Amino acid sequence: MDYGPVSAKELRLLQLKRLRATLDHAYANAPFYREAFDRHGVTPGDLRDLSDLQRFPFTGKADLRANYPFGMFATPMEQVARIHASSGTTGKPTVVGYTAEDIRIWSSLVARSLHAAGVRPGMKVHVAYGYGLFTGGLGAHYGAEALGCTVIPMSGGQTERQVQLICDFQPDAIMVTPSYMLALLDEFRRQGLDPRASSLRFGIFGAEPWTEAMRREIETGFDLCATDIYGLSEVMGPGVAQEFAGDGMPTIWEDHFLPEIVDPETGQPLPDGEEGELVFTSLTKQALPIIRYRTRDLTRLMSGSRTPMRRMAKITGRSDDMLIIRGVNLFPTQIEEQILACPALAPHFLIELTRPARMDEVTVFVEGRAGADPGTCAEQGRLLAHRVKEATGISLRVEIRPSGALERSAGKAVRVRDLRQGAAT
Ligand code: DLL
Repeated sequence: MDYGPVSAKELRLLQLKRLRATLDHAYANAPFYREAFDRHGVTPGDLRDLSDLQRFPFTGKADLRANYPFGMFATPMEQVARIHASSGTTGKPTVVGYTAEDIRIWSSLVARSLHAAGVRPGMKVHVAYGYGLFTGGLGAHYGAEALGCTVIPMSGGQTERQVQLICDFQPDAIMVTPSYMLALLDEFRRQGLDPRASSLRFGIFGAEPWTEAMRREIETGFDLCATDIYGLSEVMGPGVAQEFAGDGMPTIWEDHFLPEIVDPETGQPLPDGEEGELVFTSLTKQALPIIRYRTRDLTRLMSGSRTPMRRMAKITGRSDDMLIIRGVNLFPTQIEEQILACPALAPHFLIELTRPARMDEVTVFVEGRAGADPGTCAEQGRLLAHRVKEATGISLRVEIRPSGALERSAGKAVRVRDLRQGAAT
């Protein structure tokens, strides 16, 4: 397997070469970057050294939203082979695009990730990440195919059937969110099956934070080797970083993504080993080059182990209020937006997260407006749940409370109560 440059020097040279090409491409072909660089008084020619990247402006989710849907693309639409999307803070999703070459590179990086996890050509891989606009399912799928595996494109849901097909098809590896893997563990036991006797030997888990306790439970429950895969749609999808089996921390595929850690408040770069916000610059992407993207994920950069590429410590939280429910991103503002569209409901609400049977559940407590008819409130509560489901894919329970019943906060509104056990955030 090609794990990229073998020496640190070679890696830095490759990064510099690719970074120059990326800045040139973005400046020449994406009006958004040309304007942003001009406003900042920098041009691609100002990059002499990798550290000069700090002189360039950041990019955030808000920029993708302001340029919805395709305004940040740097190639003509005829060259865009695929679109994916993830949650935006309100209303419209964040849209990303890939050329055929982008997809080839993405697939090769997921193939590299699977190899690092212990998966080999000829093995069977059960993909239970959701297929569709989410990058998880198709990203995993193409990567497993590129490695030369047999792919079982199961997608998420249908827990009973997942277990049946794992028993019948005998996959060697599974790619799924860690919380859903725990639900599968319970389902094995519920059906009277011994999960340790299953064919699964490798699990590649990501899309949400997970703890060492969850890792132990999955590894002992299924007798398999669990590794962590990290990624985000704006930067590519799954496979930006992957843990080598037994290593403890994902290695960032630095020959394609240049990481930085910055202070989330000031944006000032921080040295390796210090905790801050992870920022990525893509080095080989064509359709959507991304320069200094603020991931909002909080972590530390650590030295490499198996390769000169640095590793990232477990994500300790986020510097924004994005929630991850069953691997799906959700912003409290998305719920607020739908509440405001229901005239009988007041914008006083609390999102409660629980994990009663392994899987995240969401309850929204919302006040009816003073004097509003209780029947109408209840009806709009159902409408609210329906609209949030339509907009985000997340099912939730809505409980109506009388006007004034929810606690008011003196300062910043407290919108979320996270009662999930074992949740890393
Ligand atoms: O979750 C891509 C992905 C799919 C990664 C499948 C791994 C496996 P988004 O929907 O854009 O993309 O969400 C990205 O999810 O910024 C993190 O907050 C969180 N996240 C992803 N992987 C991990 C992980 C996909 N291994 C957001 N540990 C990111 C902790 C993760 N958080």
